[in-house]
Amino acid sequence: MRIVLHVWRQAGREAVGRFERYVAEDISEHLSFLVMLDRVNERLTTEGKEPIAFDHDCREGICGSCGFMIDGEPHGPLPSTTVCQLHMRNYRDGHEIRIEPWRATAFPVIKDLVVDRTAFDRIIQAGGFVSVRTGSAPDANSIPVPKDDTERAMDAAQCIGCGACVAACPNASAMLFTAAKVTHLALLPQGQPERFRRAVDMVARQDEEHFGHCTNHGACQNACPKDISVDTIAWLNRDLLRGAFS
Ligand code: SF4
Ligand code: FES
Repeated sequence: MRIVLHVWRQAGREAVGRFERYVAEDISEHLSFLVMLDRVNERLTTEGKEPIAFDHDCREGICGSCGFMIDGEPHGPLPSTTVCQLHMRNYRDGHEIRIEPWRATAFPVIKDLVVDRTAFDRIIQAGGFVSVRTGSAPDANSIPVPKDDTERAMDAAQCIGCGACVAACPNASAMLFTAAKVTHLALLPQGQPERFRRAVDMVARQDEEHFGHCTNHGACQNACPKDISVDTIAWLNRDLLRGAFS
């Protein structure tokens, strides 16, 4: 099939960006979206032109490296799917596709479709960990945890830190990301000693990084490739309140 791409090109953080048009010819419907971009880049390189920069690593939907807007939707049109797991069979011959980076003040563009997501790392550094001694794996296995709690903790732990929730949110809020981390640790015994302080510190860091506030749009949940629920934001808000007054 033949696909027409309109891709955001931006040479660097301070550079002025623009959309450029490319035509991808002879694209098999079995190719993944990123392999289709690889084909475009091979041609650009052969022609002596700058390839399109985009983030990727595992290409299996588990590392969180990939992600950009496809026709205005984070990770593209499929629910619960990262862009590396999106395939060209979801498009028809002649389709015109618009691709651009996450748009958020806290995620400045590094180049083309690559944005700087180190703000997420700094939110984690503010408290998204357990610093008390928790023993070895056998010790952890000997601590009983109710089945419902383990299920919910593991659901929250699915977050891969891709940033789609921020890109989807009209306020560019990182609440779903932070809430996933807080909920994951708040449901496990090892996370209890620092539980409320963690919520306060991580949300404070979020504000310092210029993410917006949550106003309950729910766009984050819809865009999340790992189905993180906005219920986690309710958890975060409860712990935040307890932490603020303790
Ligand atoms: S909450 Fe979902 S959309 Fe947000 S960073 Fe985690 S996996 Fe990505
Ligand atoms: S490249 Fe790892 S999740 Fe997409």
